[in-house]
Amino acid sequence: MSVLLRVVLGAGLHVALGACCSCASPRSDARAAPPRAAPPASVPLPALADDTPRNYPGIHNAVAYHEGFVSGSAPEGEAGFDTLAAMGIRTIVSVDGAEPEVQRAAARGIRYVHLPIGYNGFDQQRKLQLVRAVRDASQHGPVYIHCHHGKHRSAAAAATIAASLGWLSPAAGVERMRVSGTARNYPGLYTCASAATVVLASEIDRVPADLPPVWKPSDFVKGMLEIDAAFEGLKAIENAGWTTPRDHPDLVPAAEAGRLADLFRVLSETDDVARRPAAFSTIMHEANAASQTLENLLAAGETNAIRLGAPFELIAASCRDCHARFRD
Ligand code: HEC
Repeated sequence: MSVLLRVVLGAGLHVALGACCSCASPRSDARAAPPRAAPPASVPLPALADDTPRNYPGIHNAVAYHEGFVSGSAPEGEAGFDTLAAMGIRTIVSVDGAEPEVQRAAARGIRYVHLPIGYNGFDQQRKLQLVRAVRDASQHGPVYIHCHHGKHRSAAAAATIAASLGWLSPAAGVERMRVSGTARNYPGLYTCASAATVVLASEIDRVPADLPPVWKPSDFVKGMLEIDAAFEGLKAIENAGWTTPRDHPDLVPAAEAGRLADLFRVLSETDDVARRPAAFSTIMHEANAASQTLENLLAAGETNAIRLGAPFELIAASCRDCHARFRD
C-alpha cells in the first residue's frame, strides 16, 4: 500500500472514529451530556494525517504514528499530565534517561513504562520490549511515547514499534519521523526504523510482560557505560596521534587508559561477574591487562603508534568478543 493511501486511510479512520464516538471530541455534539464537574475537557489526539507536529499545554511536538499512538516531548508539570489525561492517554512509555514522574501520571490513572534508549538506536532486546509494552498497552487505550524533546529518540522508537506491529510500513514510519523533526545526524535512529519488520506475536509474547515503570540500570550496566565513555576517549586520543585531542583538552592519554584499566578491574571483582561463566571473567581480565599495558606505555612516554596500537586493538577485540559471546 502506498504511503499516501495509508495516510488517507488513516485520516479517514480518524474522522470515522471522531464521528461515531461522541465521548472523544469536544466538537462532536454541542447537545451532549454536560461535562463532569471535574475538568479537564477532552483534547483531540494528533492525527496520522497531520503534516506538522501539534503543541498543547505542557506537551510539545506531538505526532501520531498510529491511531491512538503518539510521540512527543516529556510532559511538563501538571499541565503536561493534564493534557495527556484529557487526550485519554492510559499509558506513557518513556525512552528518555531521566526518571519518569510516575506519581503525577498515577494521580491521573496513567501507567508509566520506562525503557531508555540512546541516540545511536537500540538493540533487538530493547526493541522487543518496546513493542511488547506498546502492543499490550494499546489494548487499554491511547499510548503516549516520549523522550525529552520528542524529536529524535521517541520518534524513532515510535516508527520502529509501529512498523514492528504492522501499523505502518517502515517507509511511512520514516516519513512520520520527518514530521517529528528527527535530525539526519542520528543515522542509528533512522536505521532502526527503516530496518523494522513485522514481529510475530509469538516472539513478542516471549518478552517478559513486567516492564518497569522506572528503569534502574544494574551496576554492571553502569560500569559498561563508563567503560564505553573511557574507550570513546581513547579512540579520540588515538585519532589525535596518541595525544590530547584539540577539542577534548580534558583527555590525558595515560589517565584515560588508566581509567579503563580501573573500570575493568573493579567490574571484574563484582558479584555480577562472579555469577557468570569463567570465560567471561577471563575476557574481563584480558581487557584489564591490555588497558594496563597501554597505560604503562603512555605513562612511559611511548609515542610509537604501532606499539600503542597493539594493546589498544586487544581492548577493542575484548569488547567485540565478549559482546558477541555473552550479550548479543
Ligand atoms: C567480559 C565481557 C565484556 C567486555 C570485555 C566488555 N563488555 Fe560491554 N557489555 C557486556 C555485557 C554482558 C553487556 C550487557 C549488560 C546488560 O545489558 O545487562 C554489555 C553492555 C555494554 C554496553 C551497553 C550498556 C547499556 O546501556 O545497556 C556498552 C555501551 C558496552 N558494553 C561497551 C563496551 C566497550 C566499549 C567495551 C570495551 C572497551 C566493553 N563493553 C567490554 C560485557 C562486556
